This record gives sequence, C-alpha cells and structure tokens, in this order.
Amino acid sequence: MLHRPLLLSLLVMVVAFPMLLTGHYYQTHPRRHDSNEYGDDESVQMMQEDPPFDLKEEDAYLTVLVWKYGYEIEMHEVQTEDGYLLDLYRIGGRRAASGQPPIRPHRNAPIFLMHSLLSSCADWVLMGPGRALGYLLADAGYDVWLGNARGTRYSRKHIHLDPDRSGAFWNFSWHEIGLYDVPALIDHVLNATGAARLHYGGFSQGTMVLFVLLSERPEYNAKLIDMQAISPSVYMYRLEGRIVRTFVQLADPLVAALDAAGRREILPNRRFIAPLVKLVCADGNVTVCRELLYDVAGRNPAQVDDRMVRIFLGHFPAGASLRQLHHFSQIIRTARFAKYSPLRIAHNTLRSSPAPLYNLTRATLPVVVYYGLNDHVVNFRDALQLADEVPNLAAVHQIADRHFTHSDFILAKNSARLLNSILLQELEQYDRGALSAHPRT
Ligand SMILES: *[C@@H]1O[C@H](CO)[C@@H](O)[C@H](O)[C@H]1NC(C)=O
Ligand SMILES: *[C@@H]1O[C@H](CO)[C@@H](O)[C@H](O)[C@H]1NC(C)=O
Ligand SMILES: *[C@@H]1O[C@H](CO)[C@@H](O)[C@H](O)[C@H]1NC(C)=O
Ligand SMILES: *[C@@H]1O[C@H](CO)[C@@H](O)[C@H](O)[C@H]1NC(C)=O
Repeated sequence: MLHRPLLLSLLVMVVAFPMLLTGHYYQTHPRRHDSNEYGDDESVQMMQEDPPFDLKEEDAYLTVLVWKYGYEIEMHEVQTEDGYLLDLYRIGGRRAASGQPPIRPHRNAPIFLMHSLLSSCADWVLMGPGRALGYLLADAGYDVWLGNARGTRYSRKHIHLDPDRSGAFWNFSWHEIGLYDVPALIDHVLNATGAARLHYGGFSQGTMVLFVLLSERPEYNAKLIDMQAISPSVYMYRLEGRIVRTFVQLADPLVAALDAAGRREILPNRRFIAPLVKLVCADGNVTVCRELLYDVAGRNPAQVDDRMVRIFLGHFPAGASLRQLHHFSQIIRTARFAKYSPLRIAHNTLRSSPAPLYNLTRATLPVVVYYGLNDHVVNFRDALQLADEVPNLAAVHQIADRHFTHSDFILAKNSARLLNSILLQELEQYDRGALSAHPRT
C-alpha cells in the first residue's frame, strides 16, 4: 500500500499533467487529422495469417485487435448531421482461417455497442476471444457493430473543423453524442444490414447517450429492439471515488481556466501519454495504476489482472471534450439528469443556471439494467433509481460478485461468467421475438 499523500501527488501527476500539457502539445505539433496514430493500424486489416492465440501487451498499441484473433473486421466511416466523422467497426464473425465455421447469414439481429467516457470501441474486445462481449456476440451469431463517439481517437475528425486547431470542434458534450452520433451510427447499421431494428448495448456513458437520444428524438424507440444498460450513468450523485469527487468540486474554476487557455480536449490517446503510462505503470509493478483504478472505479483485487490493466491503459484514455466532463460534473453535483448549463460570470462568481431535465419516460423500449455493488462511479442505488424511472424495465441484474466495480464490467477476470453470459441470455429472449416479427432473408 502507498501512503495517501504520495498516492495523491502521483494521481495529480497522472491525471492533471497530461490534461494541461497535451493542449500545448497540440498547438505546437499540429497533425493531419486523417492520419492514424500508430503505424500498426493499417496492418490490422491487411494481416494475412493468424498469429498465436494469446493476449500480448503490444495489443495496447493496436487500434483493433479483432482481425488478429481470427474475426472479420470492417471499418465504416459515418458522418453526423453536424459534420463529425465517426469510425464504426463491424465484427462480422469468425474468419474461415480461424478453423471455426463462420456463421452466415447472421442468425440474430444486429447489435450496436457504445463505449464509456474517455474510452473507445476497444471496451468491447480488450479481454480477447472467449471473454470479451464483442467476440462472444459474434460467436453467438450476432452481427456486431462498435461505435466511437466524437472526440475519441477513432472519431477525431470533421468535414471542415480541425480538432488540432479549432476550438469549435470540441464544443460538444455527451448531449451531442446522444443527439447526433448515436442516431447516425444506428441509421448506418440499419441501412448497411437491411434490418428493421437492432439491439443496443451500452456501458456507462454509452447508456446515458441513448437516454438523451430517446428523450430528444423518441421516434428512435421504433428502431431498437431492446437496451442492455451496463452500469448506466444517468444518476451518478452517490459517486464514491475521491479523485472524481475532487474534480467535481473544482470543476467550475478548472473548466473556466482550461477553456480560457484554449484547452478543450481532455486526455487524448497520444504518443505523449503512452510513455507517461509506462513510467507510472512500470513493467512488473502496476501498484500506482491499481490504486488509481481502485479509487476511480472501486476496489476488487481478485478481478484485476495486471496484464489487462496495461493493455487497457494502451487504449484508455481515448479522449473527450472539456465540456463533456463539465456536463458530467453538473449532473453529479446537482443530482439531476439535465442538459448542459454553460458557465456565466455574475457578481464575480462562476454560475450556471438549472437546465431542463431529460425526459426518461420517452425511453419506451425494454431496458435491462446491470449493476455492481462496489461500483464507485455508478453507485448501485443510482442504478436502481434509474431502473425505477424507466417506463419499460425488463430486468435488473445485480452482478453476483459483491465486490464488482465499474471497471470490472470491461476488465474483470470473470466478466464472461458474471456479466456476458447473462447478457447473452437476455438478448436471446428479445431476439426470438424480433426475428419472428421481422423475418430476415
Ligand atoms: C457551442 O455550441 C452551442 C450549441 O450547442 C452554441 O450555442 C455555442 O454558441 C457554441 N459555442 C462556440 C464557441 O462555438
Ligand atoms: C444506404 O445504403 C446505400 C447502399 O447500400 C447507400 O447508397 C445509401 O447512401 C445509404 N443511405 C444512408 C442514409 O446511409
Ligand atoms: C511496487 O511499487 C511499490 C511502490 O513503488 C512498492 O511499495 C512495491 O513493493 C512494489 N512491488 C513490487 C512487487 O515490486
Ligand atoms: C415526458 O414525455 C412524456 C411523453 O412524451 C410527456 O407526456 C411528458 O409530459 C413529458 N414530461 C415532461 C416533464 O416534459
């Protein structure tokens, strides 16, 4: 165990330093926004042979691991109404080269998965075949689509705004992700597959953005079969992490300062961060990383695999906007699932006025909620409060491990048994109904 003061100063180094420095880094090193960050990226789609079937730490530096593990992967680029360009990945199923028969045509309806804050589509494949939800779904005959929100490393693109030069690119919160990104991605999947409806699975922020969409554009209920809401972050005010709580308390002045300094992109996934992570999470000893993870997500050492933490840190953080974090801080502080309220200066103090609430009763699709008892981000009472308020609650699953944390949903050694197998059973049930209503050719 580390001493608290040492730990906190390390945390400041890990969290605040990159936040402050990367803004500067961009301004002095602008890059083309259409280039890939790592040279490995291109090779992912061209690799001809199956490498050995085991997780490697270099996986942290691959954009998408999927092809490598014997699955078909397609990349689609989707344009939103307001001009953002988003990468959407499709896991069609196993490749013939994997030695397993591919499932064609897909036995089940398509499923669209949306990642959490500061993360990316890597959420769904990090744990590797046989464990990660993305692969398990493909194995079960689903056509799997993985979205990436604007501002993440895969969606740092716009038809005319340059993320490195234009503050306007970063003028969004999770409100815009829900209002523009999610519907564009859903429509693309439906159009590409010819399906009438799809399953929606979200983790944390990936669930709240769908509630935003359905509140603002309830007609999207008709395009969805069901929603699998994994640790849904609609109510977060019982949040326990001390680092995040500290951020929430300091958010207004911090946001005002960063905004004034023109630093509106937060914790991007760049070469710059990787050496820092390597330094802090030195090989063979990830104590500090673990402590960071425990504070933010919850402490459950039995489910943490150091190798997984390092791979995860190769993909996380994947970037977000300042406004997006600020919006989070507002719903945490006010305990209201409400729209963004811009900062104003009045009588020499920073203020923001109460913004209108999102209307959860418009989410009329069946919702299945999964929660963990030791989740520091979405406290189980917050998850249950949401479950109480959605009009069409289909089921609520408390994960059987009493120490299950926020990161365990993606990283736990036993997440396949504790979460994914249950989720597959739930989907199966809706899929049968959906297929009989909309026979596929
Ligand atoms: C940011 O977007 C909001 C609408 O979401 C708009 O009202 C505001 O003017 C924009 N600000 C800037 C600086 O572009
Ligand atoms: C739908 O797909 C067709 C081709 O399959 C394409 O021509 C069309 O532009 C797509 N529409 C949208 C809205 O993406
Ligand atoms: C890891 O690092 C911490 C602090 O630097 C130290 O206390 C601990 O003994 C180290 N553990 C191992 C296994 O090296
Ligand atoms: C929420 O939406 C429902 C259904 O559209 C509507 O009847 C209700 O008045 C809305 N509530 C608020 C507070 O806007």
